[in-house]
Amino acid sequence: MTHSLLTADELDANDALASLRDQFSLPEGVIYLDGNSLGALPRGVERRVERVIRQQWGERLIRSWNESDWYDLPLRVGNRIAPLLGVGAGEVVVGDSTSVSLFRVLASALQLRPGRNVVVTERNNFPTDLYIVEGLKQLLPDLEIRYWDESTDPSSVLQGAGVLMLTHVDYRTGRIRDMRTLSAAAHAAGALAVWDLSHSTGVLDLTIADDGADFAIGCGYKYLNGGPGAPSYTWVSPALVGASQQPLAGWLGHARPFAFTPDYEPAPGIRRFITGTQQVLSLASLDEALTIWEGVSIAAVRRKSTAQTARFIERVEAACAGQGLTLASPREDQLRGGQVSFTHENGYPIMQALISRGVIGDFRAPNILRFGFSPLYVRFVEIDRAAEILAEILTTGVWRRPEFAQAQTVT
Ligand SMILES: Cc1ncc(COP(=O)(O)O)c(C=O)c1O
Repeated sequence: MTHSLLTADELDANDALASLRDQFSLPEGVIYLDGNSLGALPRGVERRVERVIRQQWGERLIRSWNESDWYDLPLRVGNRIAPLLGVGAGEVVVGDSTSVSLFRVLASALQLRPGRNVVVTERNNFPTDLYIVEGLKQLLPDLEIRYWDESTDPSSVLQGAGVLMLTHVDYRTGRIRDMRTLSAAAHAAGALAVWDLSHSTGVLDLTIADDGADFAIGCGYKYLNGGPGAPSYTWVSPALVGASQQPLAGWLGHARPFAFTPDYEPAPGIRRFITGTQQVLSLASLDEALTIWEGVSIAAVRRKSTAQTARFIERVEAACAGQGLTLASPREDQLRGGQVSFTHENGYPIMQALISRGVIGDFRAPNILRFGFSPLYVRFVEIDRAAEILAEILTTGVWRRPEFAQAQTVT
């Protein structure tokens, strides 16, 4: 882990990305450490969405499909995301929820590997990913789902498999899976590699094409700050997209949607991964949020992220020693994504007590306190302060108050 002898104020003063925080609207008195779940509101979004509503929709009405190019919005927003993935322009499309995008790519990948009706994944994968593959199995009863466990060599479980489907950064622990090695293992076994990048994009310096991904999807509302329910992105390797037949073929993924022909003919490239009418308001919000990335180096973001997560671990372990917290995230910088997780048997009330003090992280059953650090707006002073407040809560035992022990709800 990298240790810094500098004070938090010095780190903030030396931070080349510090001014990006001004582009976000964050409430006074809140230390927001949940940008890995729902990113903060970029200042420009309100104006942009209002403009789209008032002018484009309200005044120009249906003419805006052409005049404001709503038609190409899924690809234009995709082009803003492409550099964050390490892929080319025209290779990413944006729309629908991550779960739906995963269904599309998973089924497409299986179709490209006929006779290999096996999907390999992890039991600890994000639940929606597991539900989607189980749902696919309802349609394809011959489909076999196998589980790989990270302590084992993937090659044995990959024998005869059509798809390896993994999440790159574990949502509970923040552990990074080795995309290059695992994709290579999938390819060596004749399978394709499908990656969920929800906890990676916008915080890790990704090079997914070089690292062997075949398909990738991920959320628009986490580190990309597109807002609640922002649409997800889909990337398909250019080598495969032309042969991909996605199962939710819809009219806006057709080569000539306005020919209104009864026969489906997929659009030539990634556009075929569009199903129906795009979510124009949500896409506008995500598009605006992504303007913040213009001129920002993702490598610099990753460096800041690593420094911030390392500092939080160091501060918490120093301030909260003997208080029952155990680090659940990797200590090695290169294995840790943008979040830090600790386990504690009373994790739920402790997180509620933290939130009541203005430190917003989240709790994941059964016992995980999760803290996400979005380098675009989190300051080093906030990291030190959050660790101090956590220590106060633990040492005073204030978390034992009945108001913090309520029934668990979504945070
Ligand atoms: C790894 C991962 N995949 C998928 C999802 C679900 O995405 P959606 O609700 O957009 O379908 C999440 C949500 O947090 C996630 O963390």
